[in-house]
Amino acid sequence: MDRLLFFASNLTLLLSFSFLSGVVESTTFKLVNNCRHTIWPGILTGADRTVLTPTGFTLLSGKSKTLIAPTAWSGRLWARTLCSRDTSGKFSCATADCGSGQVQCAGAGAIPPATLAEFTLNGDQGLDFYDVSLVDGYNLPMLVVPRGGTSGGCSPTGCLVDLNVGCPKALKVALGNTSDGVACKSACEAFGNPEYCCSEGFATPDTCQPSAFSLFFKHACPRSYSYAYDDKTSTFTCTGADYMIIFCPAPYTSEKLLGARREAAELPLVNKTTMYGGRASGGSSSGLVPVQIISCAIAIIAAILMIWPCS
Ligand SMILES: *[C@@H]1O[C@H](CO)[C@@H](O)[C@H](O)[C@H]1NC(C)=O
Ligand SMILES: *[C@@H]1O[C@H](CO)[C@@H](O)[C@H](O)[C@H]1NC(C)=O
Repeated sequence: MDRLLFFASNLTLLLSFSFLSGVVESTTFKLVNNCRHTIWPGILTGADRTVLTPTGFTLLSGKSKTLIAPTAWSGRLWARTLCSRDTSGKFSCATADCGSGQVQCAGAGAIPPATLAEFTLNGDQGLDFYDVSLVDGYNLPMLVVPRGGTSGGCSPTGCLVDLNVGCPKALKVALGNTSDGVACKSACEAFGNPEYCCSEGFATPDTCQPSAFSLFFKHACPRSYSYAYDDKTSTFTCTGADYMIIFCPAPYTSEKLLGARREAAELPLVNKTTMYGGRASGGSSSGLVPVQIISCAIAIIAAILMIWPCS
């Protein structure tokens, strides 16, 4: 009798699952914390859309969490760092805080500087539009990888470099009197000039040009938005995909993960010049292993191997 009941309920479950999968086409976001430290992702849903919950949560180093996005969802995802509660129980973060006083952001956005992943699902012609934006500054490296897309470019995008190290002094955010940066402001936020903010007389694509500051971001992370009208090289599309959002991705993320089969983007994901030569390649604040140390180790091993036969 029990067994029959078990079978019947399983059958019902099976039937309802196959029914659902035939009708509902849902998009998932898999948020992965590849940083060596805890992060607190925040999510802000756009106006007039079904809210994606939770709006904030704790994600330990090495862990991931998968969320199912409501149909035609639009909004932003980011990660807060260096968060804690004060004696009164108020929660706040050193970077990308949403000011809610709690782990859930509950409708509040990231206070800049913050690296943002932006999505509009099922938009024009059924396409998902996505980008990684440094327009509101930068707080940690982030990679967005579409998986299983059926049409559109479906290119991975993001910023793989730790820009907190190479951040120009005028833009750098540091804690207390330490010199280690925890975030890097946009020129608009740091100086407020209309030409950096693409506001007032500079509010069109023709009048708002890249600045030396926005080019610092663009050169290091060629596919990221570096200023408000950077659309052409920074917005990507895909249909029917799920998205992996990796915080502190390895600077040389494997081709397999990226799904190199469709590389429609004009610009490289990583600027190798910046990675090897620039100060921007090192990274302590985000928990990345400095590239220089690895190159140095390889050079030493190579030197030993070359000397070996002579002795
Ligand atoms: C600032 O630096 C000095 C020494 O360099 C140190 O004694 C002091 O505690 C620091 N202050 C803060 C707020 O970190
Ligand atoms: C890569 O970085 C170098 C040095 O900052 C810059 O001159 C070059 O334009 C960058 N390349 C891309 C594709 O952004």
